[in-house]
Amino acid sequence: MSSAPNTAQVLVEALPYIQRFAGQTVVVKYGGNALSGTEHADPLDVFAQDIVMLRAVGIRPVVVHGGGPQINAMLDRLGVKSDFRDGRRVTDDATMQVVRMVLTGEVNPSIVSAITSCGGRAVGLSGADDGMISVVQRDPSLGFVGDVTGVRTAVLEQLLDDGCIPVIATIGVDAAGQTYNINADSVAAAVAGALGAAKLLYLTDIEGLRRDVNDATSLISKLSAAELRALLDDGTIAGGMIPKAESCLEAVELGVPAVHILDGRVAHVTIIELFTDAGIGTMVEKG
Ligand code: ARG
Repeated sequence: MSSAPNTAQVLVEALPYIQRFAGQTVVVKYGGNALSGTEHADPLDVFAQDIVMLRAVGIRPVVVHGGGPQINAMLDRLGVKSDFRDGRRVTDDATMQVVRMVLTGEVNPSIVSAITSCGGRAVGLSGADDGMISVVQRDPSLGFVGDVTGVRTAVLEQLLDDGCIPVIATIGVDAAGQTYNINADSVAAAVAGALGAAKLLYLTDIEGLRRDVNDATSLISKLSAAELRALLDDGTIAGGMIPKAESCLEAVELGVPAVHILDGRVAHVTIIELFTDAGIGTMVEKG
């Protein structure tokens, strides 16, 4: 299977994409589900290799991560009881403390060290650093849940110019310095828009958008934002796919020309998508 001519062919297929994307920023949202639910041994190391590969060919990757499953596990372990309102967790002080602890103390450093082990120069940050991600409170009855109002990119640009790979924990901060829990998909879209990224990749636990939610073979390989909007409106995109689809449209509206939904459980999904003609997930183009 893996002969030298095949390897050459793979590299030659990648060449035009490497040429096109070199110097461009690519934001990669690494989901908490991608982090936990995978079938190969070291999911994080495989992910890190891809990120370091992007950097090595001159692309400017930025990693944005959440950590919902890890936060829930820690809340359980610590016995922190949360209130739920309409199925959503109310982020009170104690919960927010755990959110900060898990994202900046556990998930973020584990991604940074995986990238470092692969020879990349990763730098971990949270959205509170340099007031990078500013938010307003969404709804007082939900506690410290924020909506992004702005992204300050100066530190990110500096790190990228320096050859570093920023790894961002999705915590927001308001004008008074209070920290907030924020939706990592929205943050990724806002960061990609603010940086003028050429691409935003969502690493999820589904292979992409499906024409039929229950049929894994109905993957939509590529579509325009307008087509995606129509599929949302006519109910084709349903259930758990709706929030992802909305995030794609949000990113396109913020100026990101291409947004990809990929299965983070598949080894090397990032470089397969970026460096092959066919790709492997769903690509939403501005059109
Ligand atoms: N490698 C190319 C790119 O990143 C094409 C990817 C096509 N992907 C797809 N899901 N149809 O622009």
